[in-house]
Amino acid sequence: KTIKRGSFTWSSPSNIALVKYWGKKEHQIPENPSISFTLNNCKTVTKLSFSKKETNDDFSFDVFLDDEKKDDFKPKIETFFKRIVIYLPFLKDFNFRIETSNTFPHSSGIASSASGMSALALCLMSIEREFNQSISDEFFIKKASFLARLGSGSACRSLEGDLVVWGKHEEIEGSSDLFGVKYPYEVHGNFKNYQDTILLVDKGEKQVSSTVGHNLMHGHPFAQERFKQANQNLSNLISILKEGDLDTFIALVESEALTLHAMMMSSMPYFILMKPNTLEIINKIWKFRQNTDSKVCFTLDAGANVHVLYPENEAETVLKFIKNELVAYCQNGHYICDKIGFGAKQL
Ligand code: PMV
Repeated sequence: KTIKRGSFTWSSPSNIALVKYWGKKEHQIPENPSISFTLNNCKTVTKLSFSKKETNDDFSFDVFLDDEKKDDFKPKIETFFKRIVIYLPFLKDFNFRIETSNTFPHSSGIASSASGMSALALCLMSIEREFNQSISDEFFIKKASFLARLGSGSACRSLEGDLVVWGKHEEIEGSSDLFGVKYPYEVHGNFKNYQDTILLVDKGEKQVSSTVGHNLMHGHPFAQERFKQANQNLSNLISILKEGDLDTFIALVESEALTLHAMMMSSMPYFILMKPNTLEIINKIWKFRQNTDSKVCFTLDAGANVHVLYPENEAETVLKFIKNELVAYCQNGHYICDKIGFGAKQL
C-alpha cells in the first residue's frame, strides 16, 4: 500500500512502580520484573504527522513541546529511532513532525519519559497498521509496548491499566522481559480507584539520569540480592493484591521505595536523590499512620518527589492531612492529585 501523508494522535499516561525496576541488561532487558499502577491524570498527548520523503537514507523529524521547537529532545528520539528501525522499516521513508504536550507541568520533576515514549510508540504503531491492516488489537498493544520499552524501560508499563507487569516472573503468566502485560490475577476492591497524590518536593532537573543509575547496578555489591528481593516482593504482592491486605501492601511498597534509594546510595559513585523535605514528608506520613488507622503510604521514583498512595475511601481525610501538614514541604506548595488509570487512548 502506498501512503503519502497523515497523522495520528495518542494520549498515554505516566505510571508509578510498586516493585521497582532498577538495573538493566543490554537491549533494555530488565534485571528484575516490576509492577506499576498506571496513572490517570499525568499524561502526554502526542500528535505524529508524517509525509513521504524523496530519499530514505536517514531519519528526518522535528519535535515540538507545547508548540515550541525542541531541538534538545532530538538526540533521545534519534537513539530511539535507531533502536526500532529494524522493527518499523518505514521510519526512514517519511518526514515526521512530533507535537507533544504534557498535562503535568514540565520541569516538575515528574519524568515524562514513560508517558512520552509510550505515546510516540503508539503513534508509530498506528502508521504500521496503515501498512498492515490485519494487525490485531492485542498484537498492536504488545508491539507498541515492546517499542516503548526501547525508548524508556518503564514506558512499556504505561499503555494499559490498571496494574502492569514488566519482566519475566515465574508465577505471572504471560509476563515478559520484552513488553508490559496487564496484571492477570484477582485484585481486591481495596485497590479500586487507589489514589496517588504527587508531592513536588524538587522540580529541578534530575542530578543523575536513569540510564546512569541503571548502569551503576552493574557490579553493584548488593545487585544480585536486590534482584532476588524484587522477584520475591512481586511474588508476595500476588496474594496481597488478592486479599486486599493493606498493612502488608504498605510495608512492601515503602520498603521497595527505600531500597531503590538505598541502591543509589550504595553504588559507586554514590548519590542521594532525596531532599530533606522528602524525609520530613515520610516522617509525617509515619506519624499520621501511628495516630490514626489510616492506610496511607508513600513511594518514590528516582527523585525527591513523594507519591502518597491511599485507598479511595480515605480521600477526604488524607487530602486534608496533605493540605495541613505536607504541602508546606512542596516546592511552591505544588502537588498533583492523581489516581489509578486505565491506559492510553487514541484521540
Ligand atoms: O524507565 P527508566 O529507564 O527511566 O527507569 C525508571 C526506573 C524507576 O522509575 C526509578 C523505577 C520504575 O520501575 O519505574
